Order: sequence, then C-alpha cells, then structure tokens
Amino acid sequence: MAINSEKLPVHIGIIMDGNGRWAQNRGLPRAAGHKEGAEVFNRITKYCRKIGIRYVTYYAFSTENWKRPADEVNALMKLFEQYLGTAEQYAKDNVRLIFIGDKSRFPEKLRLKMEELEKKSENFDAMTVIMAMNYGGRDDIVRAAARAAALVRDRSITPEQIDESLISSLIYTGGIPDPDMIIRPGGEKRLSNFLTWQSAYSELYFTDVLWPDFTPKELDKALEEFAHRGRRFGGV
Ligand code: FPP
Repeated sequence: MAINSEKLPVHIGIIMDGNGRWAQNRGLPRAAGHKEGAEVFNRITKYCRKIGIRYVTYYAFSTENWKRPADEVNALMKLFEQYLGTAEQYAKDNVRLIFIGDKSRFPEKLRLKMEELEKKSENFDAMTVIMAMNYGGRDDIVRAAARAAALVRDRSITPEQIDESLISSLIYTGGIPDPDMIIRPGGEKRLSNFLTWQSAYSELYFTDVLWPDFTPKELDKALEEFAHRGRRFGGV
C-alpha cells in the first residue's frame, strides 16, 4: 500500500494491548504474549523510522499494571531489563529514547539504565521513541499541577499565568508535539489513562487485531485512515 507521506502523523501513540489473550489463545503463559509483544514493538519502531514518523509513544506499563499477579509483573520487569540491555541498538539508528512516567518505583538497576539511555541518546534526531512506564495520564496532570503550584509558591509566576501552554510544558511530554493519532489494538475502545492531556485532539484508531499480531501492514491501514480524516481542531 502506498503511504500518503504528506498526511503522515508526526506523533503516534500506541497502546500495546492483547498480549495476554494472544498467549492464552495458544495455551501459553501470558508472559509469552508480552515477549512476542516486545518483538512487535521492535519491528513497528523500525518501520516507523523507515517511513518517517518522528515520534512514537508506547504504553508499556501503566500505573495500574502493578495490580497484576506478581509473576506477570516480574516477567514484564525481566523483559524490560532485557530490552533496555539491547536498546543501544537504537543508537546506530540515531533514535532518541525517552521514558515517561514515575521511574522511582522501578528497581534501581532498571531506573539507572533508563536514565543512562536517555542521556546517551539525547542528541539523536532521526526519530524519538517514548516509552510510557509506570505512566498514568491523570498522574501526569496532577504532577504538572503540583509543579505549577510550586512555581506560584516560589513567585516565579502568578496564578493568572497558569494556562494551557504552561501545563503542556510541565507534563512529561513537555516540548514534544501532542499525538496526532492513537492506535489501540486488542479490541477495547478506550484510552485507559494513556496521554489524557495530550490526546485532546488525537484521532483514535481501534482494531481487533491483537498487539502480537500487529504488522507494518496493519499500521499502513491506520495511516491510510488517518490520511482521510479531516482534522479541524474545533474549527470548521
Ligand atoms: C497489555 O496487554 C500489555 C501490557 C500491560 C504490557 C505491554 C508490554 C509489552 C508489549 C512489552 C513491551 C516491552 C518492551 C520491552 C518494549 P494485556 O496483557 O492487557 O493483554 P490482554 O488484554 O489480552 O490480557
């Protein structure tokens, strides 16, 4: 399928859903679905870079995911550790890595690795991959509000100076354009606390395909639909 490169989204958000069901459908443990999901993450990231998407934000672990059974959480942590161990491969592709969410709850080894990768890749500019880890959209807004309050307390700004652009600069994705499109595979039609502030004008694309079955061709379908949607941002 030819991609309409003039109407390509600058920033795509992806909710990687359906790993558990993919594994269960095959009689495998849920963790096997996450492993396959991580492979698909790599494949889709490479494809996005190839076709010229500038930013992709992936929902890898939500603030609510800690409620899952301990063995599943542990399997995910292990996968993150493995992935972070191999993430340097992105250096050769000039890909910047950013982790959004509260890193403090992760094991120290993981946290330090995330910080190291962010630092090492900060000048890479072919594309930016943003991993939402222990991320919640409401938590993001609450933190930005607290930072705004602290600026008022320190008399750096007045309450009247709190506006949308200030909040946009204080959330985790400050400086990054809002996502033009959010893709959710796995059949559910909701955003589940992903990029709550940032998604105000995002085009939403839902598909029943489970994330481990999501291919570049499925992404092309979403891009094709995006190219045909009329975005008016509240105008006419
Ligand atoms: C949701 O599927 C998926 C997650 C909670 C984890 C997503 C994480 C990955 C794909 C691994 C990414 C890892 C790296 C290293 C980038 P689900 O388990 O809720 O699926 P279900 O709805 O079928 O149960």
